Amino acid sequence: MADWKKRVKENTVGEFFVDSTCIDCDTCRQLAPQTFEDSGEHSYVQTQPQSPEEVRSALRALVACPTGSIGTQGPNGAAQILPDFPMSMEEGIFYCGFNSPKSFGGNSYCIQHPEGNWLVDSPKFLPYLVKRFGEMGGLRYIFLTHRDDVAEAQKYADQFQAQRIIHEQDQDAQPGAEIILRGMGLQELVPGFQIIPTPGHTEGHCVLLYKNQFLFSGDHLWWRRKRKQLGASSSVAWYSWRKQTESMARLLNYDFEWVLPGHGERKKLPKDEMKKELSELVGRMRSSLEPG
Ligand SMILES: [Fe+2]
Repeated sequence: MADWKKRVKENTVGEFFVDSTCIDCDTCRQLAPQTFEDSGEHSYVQTQPQSPEEVRSALRALVACPTGSIGTQGPNGAAQILPDFPMSMEEGIFYCGFNSPKSFGGNSYCIQHPEGNWLVDSPKFLPYLVKRFGEMGGLRYIFLTHRDDVAEAQKYADQFQAQRIIHEQDQDAQPGAEIILRGMGLQELVPGFQIIPTPGHTEGHCVLLYKNQFLFSGDHLWWRRKRKQLGASSSVAWYSWRKQTESMARLLNYDFEWVLPGHGERKKLPKDEMKKELSELVGRMRSSLEPG
């Protein structure tokens, strides 16, 4: 519950506010970019939401915030917003919401599939989400992109007898995982679900390409909202920026329309435009590796 007494000074005066417990994870700015802005250290309310749609988006951000850092001065009806989550992105593809502070507010996703649903990384473990996942058909696989974003995966695995998937190089973050990926080859455990190792951000980082359309990209790749281009960052390449550059170049062998990251903006583009964006990113990354 956000605390009005701890509100950050940048907030525009009005109903909504952000308090000083914010970890600057970007979740609210993804959900309500017209309301929330980044100070460089935390989010704040730049413009109070006006229209019913803007208020709803701001309330979604309030609900999804991993640290409960968004509040309102009066009653807000946020409980009525819960059914917005998991939020449909496209047919069968959902953003879970309820980002976990254990993954620094990483996004998680659910793929609904007749042969068993997939969870990609983990949201908070909440009775509401357990109920909703149950109504959606349960969870069969939990794909963990990398060590940072496992959050509550074990609890969801126990709840649904789901199989957790993680690469051996990041396995120590989820030692009980049922399926361990090894090596650098593509693996297709279920037709249509291609797992591609992408070392760089971490040594065991992998992405999931679903139906040659949806790339669940973890912390390997995201859309930069302000620059309006695909991005990755050497400042968070915990393992190797050079390896991440090589991994990024290998993704040019695949087609996809959607980038659905752990951190950063989600983006959909026609496949040829996405490939052009990816090619330009690889060019920028390679340039950054050149001496001088
Ligand atoms: Fe990460």
